[in-house]
Amino acid sequence: MNELEQWRKDPLVIKLMATEEVFWLNPHIDSFKSAVRKLSLHEDDVKDAEKRLDRFAPYIAKVFPGTNQAHGMIESPLVQIPSMKQSLEQKYLQPITGNLLLKCDSHLPISGSIKARGGIYEVLKHAEQLALQHGLLTVQDDYSILDSETCRDFFANYSIAVGSTGNLGLSIGIISAKLGFNVSVHMSADAKQWKKDLLRSKNVNVIEYEDDYSQAVEEGRREAEQDPTCYFVDDEQSQDLFLGYAVAAFRLKKQLAEQKITVDESHPLFVYLPCGVGGAPGGITFGLKLLFEDHVHCFFAEPTHSPSMLLGLLTGLHERISVQEIGLDNRTEADGLAVGRPSRLVSRLMKPLLSGSFTIDDDKLFTLLKELADAEGLFLEPSALAGMLGPIKLVQEGNHYLKANNLAEKMNNATHIIWGTGGSMVPEEEMMAYYRRGGTIK
Ligand SMILES: Cc1ncc(COP(=O)(O)O)c(C=O)c1O
Repeated sequence: MNELEQWRKDPLVIKLMATEEVFWLNPHIDSFKSAVRKLSLHEDDVKDAEKRLDRFAPYIAKVFPGTNQAHGMIESPLVQIPSMKQSLEQKYLQPITGNLLLKCDSHLPISGSIKARGGIYEVLKHAEQLALQHGLLTVQDDYSILDSETCRDFFANYSIAVGSTGNLGLSIGIISAKLGFNVSVHMSADAKQWKKDLLRSKNVNVIEYEDDYSQAVEEGRREAEQDPTCYFVDDEQSQDLFLGYAVAAFRLKKQLAEQKITVDESHPLFVYLPCGVGGAPGGITFGLKLLFEDHVHCFFAEPTHSPSMLLGLLTGLHERISVQEIGLDNRTEADGLAVGRPSRLVSRLMKPLLSGSFTIDDDKLFTLLKELADAEGLFLEPSALAGMLGPIKLVQEGNHYLKANNLAEKMNNATHIIWGTGGSMVPEEEMMAYYRRGGTIK
């Protein structure tokens, strides 16, 4: 019997195959101190990314006036959601002990999703390298000088390609076009029409596929290989994307301090992150672990039809297994999470860092979307609701984790952060259709 056939007999894999919701605790999690010694990336790498984003802040503020108030920082609010907390507690008959907050990456400027963090960072890094090499820029300059005809004409000699389910394409497309690059976004079948239309309106070359995300990425990679002036943003294994996402943790630490929220041995932090290929939630988990070590507990959330990271970690096969190989169709309304095979880079980095992972049925994404809108007036896209049941599931199905880590008695001091990953750019009509759908599901 081969390894895959053996795994198909595993009780948890059987549940995944039946698209049942599951909650999995990672048996490979290590203490931070021991894990960090073996990792290929370090705190200095994230600091370097943070400094690069700081250098670009004057440029960002100039070309995206929406970021002006934040002085060119691409950042989102961290907000309390007390009415949603009440609504969840009543519906699931389960008290949520501790503070419940939403990190609103749904409202990140420029491209309205978590993918703005890594995607924009990687393009900026590439642009900086080119401009430095060709004497258009020094690191001491005010980077707003990149907003000039000369620089745009220069970048027009280069192209950028990316494969995406939608939101990474939006972020890469918007920033690349703004800088003056020729940019092609290879969109999987899951990508929403409005995202393609928006990109085309910004002169981005959008290529559509009838196949899933892996195919779109493959085509993007192929295009780049044939053209020496083309730079490929590789969502499946890019270290730069990962580091761009990780910077979010440094920013979050400041936001927590501003709100006088303590994270330490007796004040645990739980973070619930929607996961597609893994780059965004993985980068943020890495950053948070660097800062809060064993006092932060990160959980990923995936759709029942696309539990690629969970499957890769559970089996230890990482990117060598896809959800299709256990008979799943990788079809989900959570378009941002419609990924059948996890990132090679991220799944390996997460093995000693991630606390666990759970899956959620598509219907629940819509009911949660409506509940959050009703309770808090916040509208997120379906993918972005995947982590919302994390605090409920943790107590109902992850009690063992709380006991094993001496957390049960500290839960009154706990902070739970639901990472809301996208939604603010969804056209109103589309959002109202999601909302109405949430009201029809029993
Ligand atoms: C809204 C949203 N949430 C979460 C994710 C997950 O990010 P990643 O694919 O890097 O795991 C995505 C990815 O596109 C997304 O669009």
